[in-house]
Amino acid sequence: MAGLFDPVRMGDLDLANRVVMAPMTRSRADEEDRPTDIVVDYYRQRAGAGLIVTEGVQPSAEGKGYARTPGLYNDGQVAAWRRVTDAVHAAGGRIVAQLMHVGRIAHAANRQADVPVVAPSAVAAKAKMWTEAGELPTEIPRALGTEEIQRVIADYADAARRAIEAGFDGIELHCTSGYLPAQFMASGTNQRTDGYGGDAAGRTRFVVETLQAISKTIGAGRTGFRICPGNPFNDLFDEDPAETHAVLLRGLRDLGLAYCHVIAMPTPQKVDQRALVAAEWNGSTILNNDLDRDRAAQLLAEGACDAVSFARAFIANPDLVERFRRDAALAPFNPKALYGIGAEGYSDYPPLAD
Ligand SMILES: Cc1cc2nc3c(=O)[nH]c(=O)nc-3n(C[C@H](O)[C@H](O)[C@H](O)COP(=O)(O)O)c2cc1C
Repeated sequence: MAGLFDPVRMGDLDLANRVVMAPMTRSRADEEDRPTDIVVDYYRQRAGAGLIVTEGVQPSAEGKGYARTPGLYNDGQVAAWRRVTDAVHAAGGRIVAQLMHVGRIAHAANRQADVPVVAPSAVAAKAKMWTEAGELPTEIPRALGTEEIQRVIADYADAARRAIEAGFDGIELHCTSGYLPAQFMASGTNQRTDGYGGDAAGRTRFVVETLQAISKTIGAGRTGFRICPGNPFNDLFDEDPAETHAVLLRGLRDLGLAYCHVIAMPTPQKVDQRALVAAEWNGSTILNNDLDRDRAAQLLAEGACDAVSFARAFIANPDLVERFRRDAALAPFNPKALYGIGAEGYSDYPPLAD
């Protein structure tokens, strides 16, 4: 019977325990989309997690949506991330980069480069984005051409190569929350008539091909992915998310990927994400959403997953695993400091006193 503090191997990733830090955008990168000194501190402090999944990282300038999110598309960013991965490894941790291309969830005001907003189809989201000029509606995207999709896939593979060069243990492909991969998979945002649209096999093809390309570049055992079937975030709608994701998981089964990270949360179409993954996935699974220590331990004991992930609990509890070991109380976080540029409410939460 597996417990929170037992080691586990998922693909090529060796975790010292089964408590994963879930990805969280915290918007502390510099003007060049590079992680800063406080980002090094923040991840180092959380290296007690069995695995850290970073905040969403854009694989290209085009993939950036929110203000001050970091990238992995040039040498300066690789060098800056190297400081983070070295710090985490020196503290005994493991860390993968979450590759996040926002597709249509973007506004030019948050980007340095003059790059178009692209998506599977020219369908705007009913969503607003925070910019320094206030909240602005996201832009109407341009539909990607069939040939151009290969370039987007190559950008992801290139970012994965840079992630390894920067010292990451692997990458996680962000395939939920209404961003580009989710926009391809959902019938509401994908109105394409070429081989990347239509039925579930067509709509999931982009994700399957991207994970194949990344696996070919860095190895499948270092490649994970994150899904949340039925997640309506960012104005996403799919007529049958359970079926779409079943087809996706069948398409990924034979690749030998490191893990499937699934957010199991209530959704309008009432998808049972846990049951779906249990039925369709044959690899390692990380389960997320709204867990506490005891519920997470129970899920592991039941064999429902190989690891569990926590996001918000890590914000004010850098040594979360140690607190779980001691059954210590958890500190609350400052919700006003989730996104911003400073150390306050980010890298200034103390560990437990001895
Ligand atoms: C501030 C914040 C930022 C987040 N950013 C991301 C992100 O960049 N990528 C992602 O996949 N999920 C992101 N999430 C979702 C979390 O990874 C997680 O799924 C969610 O918070 C539920 O887990 P929890 O109950 O342990 O907090 C974010 C959540 C929070 C609170």
